Amino acid sequence: MRLTSPKMNLMYKACMKASRSLIRDFGEIEKLQVSSKGPADFVTAADKRTEKIIIEELLKAHPDYGILSEEIGEINEKNKNNRWIIDPIDGTLNFLNGIPHFAISIAYEEKKEIISGLIFDPIKDEIFFAEKGSGAFFNNSRIRVSKKNKLKDSLIVTGGPKFASSRKEKIFQQYIRVSNSTNAAIRKFGSAALAMSYVAAGRFDGYWEWELNYWDIAAGVIILKEAGGYVDYLEPKKVVNVVATNSKIHEELKTVLIID
Ligand code: IPD
Ligand code: CA
Ligand code: CA
Repeated sequence: MRLTSPKMNLMYKACMKASRSLIRDFGEIEKLQVSSKGPADFVTAADKRTEKIIIEELLKAHPDYGILSEEIGEINEKNKNNRWIIDPIDGTLNFLNGIPHFAISIAYEEKKEIISGLIFDPIKDEIFFAEKGSGAFFNNSRIRVSKKNKLKDSLIVTGGPKFASSRKEKIFQQYIRVSNSTNAAIRKFGSAALAMSYVAAGRFDGYWEWELNYWDIAAGVIILKEAGGYVDYLEPKKVVNVVATNSKIHEELKTVLIID
């Protein structure tokens, strides 16, 4: 593994340690599907356990760094210079249903700029990582975005809408527009972190989604940028409405997505 810095090494170590219990937990899910209580509580526990292991490892090395993590919220929130952004399981619904498509996502920020990111799919044993200025990697190889330059030839991934979204209508309209007006093929795989990683690796050509949280995409942003991709936001200043592509189809996709 070509980890470029002590920070990346630390993120990797924390992630690998947490993934061991996560893999064990995933192995138990099938049995729980048939239990009367169902697996929801169990998944919440797995989520929290994963988060706890990651946070413990990161804090051991840097007790004063800030942390923003999905389940626990903020730690050391006064530290705005150094901050970890964590999503312990991205793709919880897949996990809950025994679908092996979810990931641990960890990003590191300095003065609010994302510097490095690591996304690990523990079941497929696939890791995506990047550090500003050092390129993006998949396992041991450098990755680049795809070369497709027309939306009609592209494979696009999306997600949502959320169950309670007030924008449901608009989000469906966008989906129909992309699909009808461009003939692009569209997929929904249920993990924002892996969607970003797959665009970085050239598996998908573009991704868009509304109403994400920052931890869903923080690591993905740097991985995609370092792979030559482009990330921006459907509503300026709202980093959670994301459009992320191989750069070449960016304007075309964005134009189709904007509905007044
Ligand atoms: C979710 C996944 C999913 C996206 C949702 C996210 P979670 O994260 O990234 O793909 O559509 O908006 O909330 O809840 O599994 O961590
Ligand atoms: Ca998430
Ligand atoms: Ca999560």
